[in-house]
Amino acid sequence: MTTTAVTHIASLVTNDPSLGNGTPLGLIQDAAVVIDGDRIVWTGESSKAPATDNVLDAAGRAMIPGFVDSHSHLVFAGDRTQEFNARMSGQPYTAGGIRTTVAATREASDEQLSANVAHYLAEALRQGTTTLETKSGYGLTVEDEARALRIASRHTDEVTYLGAHVVSPDYADDPAGYVDLVTGPMLEACAPHARWIDVFCERGAFDGDQARAILTAGRAKGLHPRIHANQLTYGPGVQLAVELDAASADHCTHLTDADVDALGQGDTVATLLPGAEFSTRATWPDARRLLDAGATVALSTDCNPGSSFTSSMPFCIALAVRDMGMTPDEALWSATAGGAAALRRTDIGRITPGARADLVLLDAPSHVHLAYRPGVPLVSAVWRGGQRVE
Ligand code: NIG
Ligand code: FE
Repeated sequence: MTTTAVTHIASLVTNDPSLGNGTPLGLIQDAAVVIDGDRIVWTGESSKAPATDNVLDAAGRAMIPGFVDSHSHLVFAGDRTQEFNARMSGQPYTAGGIRTTVAATREASDEQLSANVAHYLAEALRQGTTTLETKSGYGLTVEDEARALRIASRHTDEVTYLGAHVVSPDYADDPAGYVDLVTGPMLEACAPHARWIDVFCERGAFDGDQARAILTAGRAKGLHPRIHANQLTYGPGVQLAVELDAASADHCTHLTDADVDALGQGDTVATLLPGAEFSTRATWPDARRLLDAGATVALSTDCNPGSSFTSSMPFCIALAVRDMGMTPDEALWSATAGGAAALRRTDIGRITPGARADLVLLDAPSHVHLAYRPGVPLVSAVWRGGQRVE
C-alpha cells in the first residue's frame, strides 16, 4: 500500500491524552502524520518522520481529527424557511413543525431523498465532517420509515431509527396505537437497516413511559438506544437515557441537578446541539455545568430543516465556546472524540496509530482559530479513510 506523510504540521491534535502537554487533546507541535491505506500508522515530531512514498508539507498549518457529527436528520424533503422567518419575528419553536417536513418527505421520490442526503453529506465533508450519524423520523409510516433508513444506509453506517419523532398525524387520536406501530411492525421493518433507536422524549412528542417502551423494544431487536432529551422542557429523558445505558442523551438544554449528576456518573454522553438553540433563539445548554460534574460532552449539528439547518461543526464549536462556557480545547475535543464516544467508536475522532485516517488540515496555526475566527472557512484539506477529498 502507498504511504503518505503530512509533515511540518504547526500543531497536531491527536486526542491521545498520554501524549501529555496537560490537555486531553494530546497536542504535538511541529508534527507529522503518516498514513498507509485507510489507517494512521505513525504520529510524532516532524523531524523524526519515517520515509514514505509521498510527502505533503503542511507549511505551518494545524491538523485535527475529522469531526464526528453524531446527530443529524438528513432524510427529508422541502425546507421550513417560512417557519424560520416567523420564529425570527417572535413565534416560538414547537415540535409541530415536524409534520410539515413529514408531508413533504412522504411526497418525495427515493431519488430526491437520496440526492438530498448526498448533498448535505458533501457539504458537511467539505467542512471537515468525516463521520455523520443520521436518522429517519420524517416518514412515520412503516414504509416511509423503512425507506428513509434504507436511503440513509447508502450514505453512512451510523443510521438511527426515529419512528418515534412525533405521533404520526394518521394516529392523532390514537397515540397508544402509534406506539404499538413503532414497537411492532415498524420496528420489524426498520431494525435491519439501523444501528440505533431514538425517541423524541418531550412534551408534545413522547412521555417517559412511552419512550421506555419504545427503546426497550428496539433493544430487544438489537438496536442501541439514544434519546432526544430535555430539549424544550425539563423531563424524564436524561434519567431514562442513563437508566437504559443509552449511548447519548441529546440536547440536554433543561437539566435539574439530578440530571447533571446522572450524566456525570453514567456512561451516557451528553450531546449538545447549539445550532438548535441558535436557530430557535432558545436558552443555551450549560456545557460548563456538565463538564464540571464529570460528564462526557459531545457537540453535534442536529442538521435538520426545522430547528437547526446547519451542517457546520466549526460553527457549533464557535457557539459552544462563545455561549456555552466551553474552552476552545474542550469544544474541539467534544466535536471529535466526544462525537466518537456518543457513537461508541474508538476508531475515529483521534489521530493515533491504528485509527481511521480521517484528517482535517486547517488554514490556521492552531485549532483555537475555529472559535477565534467564527464563520471563516478554515478547512483547507480533508482526508476520509486515507482518501483526500476534493
Ligand atoms: O432535534 N427535537 C426533535 N427533532 C429535531 C427537530 C426536527 C424538526 O423540527 O424538524 C431536533 O431539534
Ligand atoms: Fe435532533
